[in-house]
Amino acid sequence: MRILLMGAPGSGKGTQAGFIAQKAKVSSVSSGDLFRKNLSEKSELGILAKTFMDRGEYVPDDVTIRMVLDWINDPSNTSGFVLDGFPRTLPQAIALDEELGSVDKVIFFDVPNNDLIERLSGRLICRTCQASFHKIFYPSKNGMICDKCPDELYQRDDDKADVVTNRLKVYMQETQPVIQYYAKQNKLITVDGSKSVDEVESELEMALND
Ligand code: AP5
Ligand code: MG
Repeated sequence: MRILLMGAPGSGKGTQAGFIAQKAKVSSVSSGDLFRKNLSEKSELGILAKTFMDRGEYVPDDVTIRMVLDWINDPSNTSGFVLDGFPRTLPQAIALDEELGSVDKVIFFDVPNNDLIERLSGRLICRTCQASFHKIFYPSKNGMICDKCPDELYQRDDDKADVVTNRLKVYMQETQPVIQYYAKQNKLITVDGSKSVDEVESELEMALND
């Protein structure tokens, strides 16, 4: 099963990726997490990506496509996967189709803009496992410590208000056409991502069983 997760910044892709991967019995990866991992290792790719991420812009297609296709072509991922946040430009979607033929399901998390800003401004991320929490909507049981692994939570640099505004603008310009691309292929499953985490999970469970 090859599943793509699409949606605006803060729409809940990362929160639900693990659940979807577990249901589909495949691995999941977030392109944003891959960039952040590269940065923590101080690789050339990570340092390049940071210059774009800090401004809320997309990392250029050539390096992004190469990074994600390398992950997909790893023998442990070839039988299936959940991709969170890739593709988000038309050239990325075309490159993925050229590599794979096609994908099985594209899940689009539909969330109004006002909710997105509220979610991103209160988000906390685990330094080790990258789990995503929210100060109010989805707090860790251990305060500022992750309840999935015992590391501290932090606020992402790109969750600051001015960067968030640009991320949403770039998303509208670059990624809306990709949603249409998959709608035309009849692959798109739209989930009401404005509901609670548990309600979204139930909706996803139904969509995956179809
Ligand atoms: P990335 O890390 O992928 O960021 P993003 O797309 O902006 O998405 P987010 O991670 O912000 O949102 P999410 O949908 O995962 O939300 P979450 O589940 O955490 O990418 C970062 C950067 O990397 C990009 O800006 C770009 O520069 C670069 N990049 C990555 N991929 C690229 C690509 N393909 N091409 C080019 N550049 C790329 O939830 C958000 C918050 O809401 C959390 O606090 C959570 O607890 C809370 N929440 C979640 N669900 C609910 C709910 N149902 N109710 C209430 N609160 C909820
Ligand atoms: Mg995410």
